[in-house]
Amino acid sequence: MVVVHPALPPLPIRPEAWEWLQRSGVRVVVRDPTSRRGGGYWWPDRKLVDLFTAQEEAAIHELAHAWWHERRLQGTNAADLMVACVKLSEEKHPRYARARELARHYVYGIPTQPDPQSPTGWWMGMFVGGNGGGLDWEVYAGLASGVMGNLALLPPYIRRFYEELFDPPVRDLPPAEEIALRDGRRVAVRLADPDDAAAIWRLIDTVARERRYLRMPAADWGVEGEWRWLVGLEERGGFMLVAWDGDRAVGWVDIVPAAGLSRHTGELGMGVHPDYRGVGLGTALLARALDRARALGLEKITLGVRAPNAVARHLYERFGFVVEGEFSGQIKDGAVYENEVRMALWLGDRPPLV
Ligand SMILES: CC(C)(COP(=O)(O)OP(=O)(O)OC[C@H]1O[C@@H](n2cnc3c(N)ncnc32)[C@H](O)[C@@H]1OP(=O)(O)O)[C@@H](O)C(=O)NCCC(=O)NCCS
Repeated sequence: MVVVHPALPPLPIRPEAWEWLQRSGVRVVVRDPTSRRGGGYWWPDRKLVDLFTAQEEAAIHELAHAWWHERRLQGTNAADLMVACVKLSEEKHPRYARARELARHYVYGIPTQPDPQSPTGWWMGMFVGGNGGGLDWEVYAGLASGVMGNLALLPPYIRRFYEELFDPPVRDLPPAEEIALRDGRRVAVRLADPDDAAAIWRLIDTVARERRYLRMPAADWGVEGEWRWLVGLEERGGFMLVAWDGDRAVGWVDIVPAAGLSRHTGELGMGVHPDYRGVGLGTALLARALDRARALGLEKITLGVRAPNAVARHLYERFGFVVEGEFSGQIKDGAVYENEVRMALWLGDRPPLV
């Protein structure tokens, strides 16, 4: 947070960014410090952030203009921002609802908003020619003030344009449950959040690279792929629980409902970091995931386990999972084939089958 003018409240701007702006000659004036009605200009030739009143939103907006002014001409930054804005307009997660709404306005305009300058008579947004077209600088400042500089409200592919300007995201995490492991260490277990993507990806990648337990040899989808998966999880009605030792993710379990007429079933995946195995964490995670699945109304949990993975099979059996089938040679790593064992657990009574 920095104070850029005595009339304004502290703004969520990084001190280094404010220093840079000042070093490059940017000044802030507030015409009427007694009002908060808003409005302002960025005057590039005078390097002036000219605020009509002491409104925080206008200050963030005009300072974002000042910051983006020369950055937009570096490499393909301006075009990259426009592409990211189109992507943002399709984002469904409720976390990004405000940013998405703005992005949709910028991309598609607002047919109900009159604009005498526009050939259609309505405001056509920031992308379509005929009323300026290609206004990346307004997109940049509009998103900045639209989320009031809170990076948590922007997906990573657009957040990256703002990361050096605004403070780190303010995280509003789901409640955690502390669990004592058998060796005395304590971990916190909570639902995964999209902003956990990097830590979760590192954990899954570590387990995948052991090459013995998971279906993939590495988590080659990367951090953004992990984020995308977490964001889609809620929409699909699934969840992931993660165990944390400080800011290190050390275990996970996820259950994702299947589609269509298998919607009453959920597929389970899990893993524990090698340094935390054999001390009860897998058991604790699985118990909580099954409780949650039951509470969500799922009836049957399914999973696939590599046939030689005796520890995992033992754990699942202890919770009542039974083998429902075996796919021969389903796993092939180099020249080595393994069977995949399909296991399942009915959470209530198994229904009569036809
Ligand atoms: C399978 C896995 C999730 C289990 O988690 P964990 O935290 O190690 O398990 P726990 O400490 O809760 O122990 C679970 C059971 O396995 C047994 N077990 C644990 N490690 C064992 C080992 N090395 N050898 C034999 N049994 C072992 C435990 O004794 C316990 O059984 P019990 O309660 O009957 O005594 C974990 O080992 C793992 O991440 N493995 C690699 C990834 C993986 O296999 N994922 C599942 C893919 S289907």
